[in-house]
Amino acid sequence: MAESTIEKRVVISTDPASLAESVAARLLNRIAKCGSDGSLVHISLTGGSMGSAVLAAAARHPRLGRVDWSRVHVWWSDERFVSREDADRNEKQAREALLDAIDIPAENIHAMSATDDGHDLDAAAERYAAELAHFPQEDGTPWPSFDICFLGVGPDGHIASLFPDRPEILITDRVAVAVRDSPKPPPERISLTRPVINGSRRVWLVLSGADKAGALGLALAGASYASVPVAGAKGRRRTIFFVDEAAASQVPPELIDREY
Ligand code: 6PG
Repeated sequence: MAESTIEKRVVISTDPASLAESVAARLLNRIAKCGSDGSLVHISLTGGSMGSAVLAAAARHPRLGRVDWSRVHVWWSDERFVSREDADRNEKQAREALLDAIDIPAENIHAMSATDDGHDLDAAAERYAAELAHFPQEDGTPWPSFDICFLGVGPDGHIASLFPDRPEILITDRVAVAVRDSPKPPPERISLTRPVINGSRRVWLVLSGADKAGALGLALAGASYASVPVAGAKGRRRTIFFVDEAAASQVPPELIDREY
């Protein structure tokens, strides 16, 4: 399917389950297509219920075997700074939902630090920036351009661990940042910054539930990303909001793509 240049697109599914299935199928398709020329594929995962639901749906999908996972690198846009085996870890949830079920080399899974890795939160952010710098872009940008940056969205419009009216959403001179006193527990997190997220070829945002409708409506209406971070998410080629009917209640009809 040719990629058009439409800025932001809204694709609606009936309910959370069909949303997860739909995004999972697209995710596997796109990963397979991106890697079909033998190049490395970089995808960034996120936390939250939809993040895990999509990965679990992918693990069940018949197209799972079509992907050459040896060329896929998995990153995270954010992580909760807790111990590695803590159920709150986005990495742990992703491994249980999908990564443990695929033949992906261990070194291709780039998890952010945990509290039991022996360094503090600021060092954890710095270490992730250094790991990303091992895959610089052709123009020297010290992080990969993710083929897909997959994000959940909070009811307040946060993405990754970039929250409204907090300094981290405005940071542009760092790759990854330490987040303290997070409005969403747990309190300590590591997050990629907006330039890295928006350096992605495709930003895919997945939203389910009526409590997300306001943030989505504001984002599409051009709200400031300082107060509605999701408003500032924009892939280089594509920005798609995958939503269910409940989250779509405030989406202008002209932005809804029934064909995609
Ligand atoms: C996290 C996530 C966060 C999440 C949103 C949406 O670590 O909590 O990265 O950004 O994706 O809060 O979560 P839900 O899909 O569960 O609403």
